Amino acid sequence: MKTVVITGSARGLGLEMAKEFRKNEFNVVISDLQEEKLLEAKSELEKIEAKGEILEVTCDVTKEEDLQRLMDTAVGKFGCIDIWINNAGVNQPMVPIWEVETEKINRLVDIDLKGAMIGSKIAMKQMIKQGHGQIYGIEGYGSNDAMMLGLSVYGTSKRGLTYFLKALAKEVEEKKLNIQVGLLSPGIMITNFITHSVGDEEFELPEKTKKVYNILGDYPNVITKFLVGKMIENKKNGVRINWLTNRKAAFRFMTSSFNKRNFFLKA
Ligand SMILES: NC(=O)c1ccc[n+]([C@@H]2O[C@H](COP(=O)([O-])OP(=O)(O)OC[C@H]3O[C@@H](n4cnc5c(N)ncnc54)[C@H](O)[C@@H]3O)[C@@H](O)[C@H]2O)c1
Repeated sequence: MKTVVITGSARGLGLEMAKEFRKNEFNVVISDLQEEKLLEAKSELEKIEAKGEILEVTCDVTKEEDLQRLMDTAVGKFGCIDIWINNAGVNQPMVPIWEVETEKINRLVDIDLKGAMIGSKIAMKQMIKQGHGQIYGIEGYGSNDAMMLGLSVYGTSKRGLTYFLKALAKEVEEKKLNIQVGLLSPGIMITNFITHSVGDEEFELPEKTKKVYNILGDYPNVITKFLVGKMIENKKNGVRINWLTNRKAAFRFMTSSFNKRNFFLKA
């Protein structure tokens, strides 16, 4: 039976991917900051009848010792890790850079960029030892150089992450290792993330951003079937698994006048 480890998986995309892997008979290792939230996530996963096991490990991706403990606990239980996903991520307050507290800049870069770099390093060492494995990171706004007011710190981190994983894939190729490094591009997901910044502080989205999210956004459970299916069948190093293609985005805009959605209605 195969095993997947996902960071930041007590909710959102991470939890939905864990559910999909479980449906595909994987052992799933979920991890996040708080034990309590992980146990809630675990009981959601237990509702899915499947053969694989579920292991929860608290892990702050800004701490190398936590990431190492996550890996060691997972390998201790399951013997090896087939897929490692650097998913944990935080958003920034939607204000220009000079209004973002330095503490928040540091925390965001530590989680979104450095957490994924150190996580990948730890995963690489284990996968070299076991002779196989896949490592993924999650792209986001800025990965393709796009820019907008209020996303300079997040965009810089995601741009850096994309570069880092492409560079890692190149190193893997040059060393002729049996490891696949890739990028998951989920588009826009309706999760806690889009209205909360570092430290889970809520902010109001501008109306024009809401309009775009209503057209292009999806709940993560819609996206994960596609992402997980592609990861399971992937044999290629350096792959980019992209949900919101330009074609899909253009189609959504063209059909938006008779396909109205509103993810922001207050109950
Ligand atoms: N929501 C979107 O529109 C969107 C779009 C593109 C990419 N992404 C990326 O997808 C990933 C998941 O986002 P989401 O939308 O599910 O967000 P989310 O806020 O729902 O989930 C993020 C999870 O990461 C955890 N986390 C935060 N800091 C952590 C840390 N230091 N250590 C461990 N876990 C930590 C949180 O507790 C939370 O469970 C992120 O990398 C995000 O950048 C999101």
